Amino acid sequence: MGDELIRREIVGIEFLSFLQGMKQLTEKFSDNVLGDQTLDVRSRKTREFGILYGVGVGPGDPDLLTIKALEVLKNVPFIFAASSSKNDYSIAGNIVKKHLGSKDVEKLPFPMCDDKSVLEEAWKKNGDRVLEVLSRGLDCAFITLGDPLTYSTFSYLMKTIRKVAPGIRVRSVPGITSFQAAAAAASLPLSEGEESLVIVSGARGGLKLKESIKTSDNIVMLKTYKQFKDIYQTLEELDLLNKATFVCNLGTDEQKIVNNLTKLKNANTPYLSLIIIKKNLQDT
Ligand SMILES: C[S@@+](CC[C@H](N)C(=O)[O-])C[C@H]1O[C@@H](n2cnc3c(N)ncnc32)[C@H](O)[C@@H]1O
Repeated sequence: MGDELIRREIVGIEFLSFLQGMKQLTEKFSDNVLGDQTLDVRSRKTREFGILYGVGVGPGDPDLLTIKALEVLKNVPFIFAASSSKNDYSIAGNIVKKHLGSKDVEKLPFPMCDDKSVLEEAWKKNGDRVLEVLSRGLDCAFITLGDPLTYSTFSYLMKTIRKVAPGIRVRSVPGITSFQAAAAAASLPLSEGEESLVIVSGARGGLKLKESIKTSDNIVMLKTYKQFKDIYQTLEELDLLNKATFVCNLGTDEQKIVNNLTKLKNANTPYLSLIIIKKNLQDT
């Protein structure tokens, strides 16, 4: 009798672990069916979290917002945008205004400084705010200028949130980048045939340009505003001023395209400015 009880108990335990295994398999399978690679099956709690969308809104002209971006923005209950901690202004927020009417865009203030600890503190605070919404099971979108995965605050937000909640579901909606729109505005091919193209940051001045020009036929330099004078000098040194095109404030009333940079000696340039350099550009 005693042996029979033990045998039944063992069979019971085996059946329970069989069921457990089946459950895990089903969960894993349904995750795959959803194509949801970002969902971490180890932390089941994230199932109840909302989805974080990174939405690119293009470089300035509201008509360059994609249909997909608009669809997501109309459907999510919360939209966030980075803004300067000084004036609460958000360029991305301004771009979507035309399409969203009175729908609110919540600004997340980011200090315009290079102090790592101050920036990290702001990231943490803003990440917590987004996570708080996601943890209520609500989807939200973080809108960014241009494309959300090209020199964008969205990638930092994504990393910050994933540190705290690794299983969070993230979707990105690509946007038209500033340099694609700049090439279009200037009717300038970014690259042709076998040519190469690199995208670099101008935040550290002309040094990056010197390195890149050795190996690339075409260079797009973003974030040129703070170091414009240094970049100008480097272009002059490399005899590339007449092969460079400067574009600023794309898609706004202040848009400007300058084909030969000699006209910009000693100029003060705005935040929204970039330079396209084409090594093989022929004089026309
Ligand atoms: C933080 S990066 C953002 C890049 C953006 N995610 C993209 O896909 O183009 C900011 C830089 O992008 C460029 N940029 C963005 N919008 C622009 C515009 N409307 N006109 C000119 N440059 C722009 C400038 O070089 C600016 O300093």
